[in-house]
Amino acid sequence: MHKTVIERDPKTRGILEPMSKAGKVSSSNPRIAIAIMAAGKGTRLKSKLPKVLHEVGGKPLLAHVIAAAAKVVPAKHVYAIVGHEADRVREALSHTGVGFVLQKEQRGTGHALMMAREALTDYDHVLVLSGDAPLIQAETIEKLRDFHIAKRAAMSLLTARLDVPAAYGRVIRKSSKSDEVKAIVEFKSLSATQRKICEINAGFYAFHVPVLYGNIDKLKTNNPHGEFYLTDMAAILCKTKKRVVAVQAEDANEVLGGNTRAELVEIDQHMRLAKCWQLMAEGVTIFNPQSCVIDSDVEVGTDTTIEPFVQLLGSTKVGSESRIHSYSVIRNTELGDGVTVLPGCVMDDSRVENKATLGPYSRLRPGSDIGEGAKVGNFVETKKIRLGKGSKANHLTYLGDAEIGEGVNIGAGTITCNYDGVHKHKTIIEDGVFVGSDSTLVAPVKVGKGAYIAAATCVTEDVPVDSLAVGRSRQVNKEGWVREKRAKTAEKAKSSHS
Ligand code: UD1
Ligand code: CA
Repeated sequence: MHKTVIERDPKTRGILEPMSKAGKVSSSNPRIAIAIMAAGKGTRLKSKLPKVLHEVGGKPLLAHVIAAAAKVVPAKHVYAIVGHEADRVREALSHTGVGFVLQKEQRGTGHALMMAREALTDYDHVLVLSGDAPLIQAETIEKLRDFHIAKRAAMSLLTARLDVPAAYGRVIRKSSKSDEVKAIVEFKSLSATQRKICEINAGFYAFHVPVLYGNIDKLKTNNPHGEFYLTDMAAILCKTKKRVVAVQAEDANEVLGGNTRAELVEIDQHMRLAKCWQLMAEGVTIFNPQSCVIDSDVEVGTDTTIEPFVQLLGSTKVGSESRIHSYSVIRNTELGDGVTVLPGCVMDDSRVENKATLGPYSRLRPGSDIGEGAKVGNFVETKKIRLGKGSKANHLTYLGDAEIGEGVNIGAGTITCNYDGVHKHKTIIEDGVFVGSDSTLVAPVKVGKGAYIAAATCVTEDVPVDSLAVGRSRQVNKEGWVREKRAKTAEKAKSSHS
């Protein structure tokens, strides 16, 4: 017997509470769990990363399936069956609050469900999802659930019609008009006639739990892969006169599985285009959506315009009436309303308040906090700073570990020297300060309110409020110096030729 391990992230939800065995099954309010098969290696991807952690739409495959599942039942009733690189998968998704079941050896989809027996035993029905089919929508899972319950079926499966049914398993119905299914035949075992069937098994099922576990030990490994196929349950149950039914998905794209790199890219494109269409429906203009890369969890407000070749990644949020010009890559950053991002900006883990202007070619590194109406211009790099309301750093500047007040002007070429080779230090620039071009501020240092820094000053000491700091050597003009040098050179050339 393989040991079943059920784990939960103690931080999010505490340990698994055993369900009451006393409560009788009520058909009007059945207890429903969702199991997601996610233990496979994904051999066809030829990758070190386990299949379900490969990303589409900026998130692991499994994260999408969990998100859909958790809309149908609370996360505590969702169980991800993990195996290959289980620790890595569990770590990446523990924040979702689902339970994890370990399938130590991956001996097929049927075997995955055998390993979940203990976790599922107190439920009436289980909806089984494939962890590598991330386009599935909660509504479709609900449709499968409702169909299964309405038909009082032992097993229900979701199907789709595909023009190119590829390597999917095919569904053999009792007759073309019947809901009832005789068998699912895996690709490698298809006869020439069966190959022509365009109705495929989508890899999503509903089972009556007692019937599933009352029959699951009948699964055999006499197939080309030597695995326990969950799909064989259809024929097994049919033979024992249990009802096996199929319902077709409205949108065949929803069931696409990511088994190869090419399939993953196809799914990614579907997901991102759907995201663009959703945003457009909500009042966002996206020019050339095919060229934009917008992750699933990104939010954009109405009347914002996104130009071609923009990437909005991770948890990025953009407010209303903003404009993101081409070639900007923005990750985990919050932009307010009326923000202008000129071409070629790169931003990570930062915040930009309303009506600020950035770029072209600004680089906001993590912890940059740009105030309302502020300007960060060409070739300006920031890191861990606050730039106050209406302040400007328009050209060629590095601002790191700095607190900059309101209405400050940072001249071209200003640099905060925040690093002494060992530690980082802070620069404080108070409201209304004017920093002349090409100044260096050697931190830790503070420039008081309203002070001026003369161009090219190296500020090493604090500057008092309303003062002028000048820290550069004086200019000396040597009059006629060049004229004399020229004359001397000409003299030399003459004597060497004679
Ligand atoms: C499976 C179905 C096929 C269907 C297709 C739909 C079987 C035998 N075949 O094929 O009929 O058309 O899905 O996408 O089920 N997994 C485990 N443990 C294992 C093996 C697999 O958890 O031991 C997981 C995988 O990680 C994956 C899912 O189950 O998320 C499906 O497995 P996969 O190998 O991708 O099955 P397919 O060949 O796509
Ligand atoms: Ca698959």
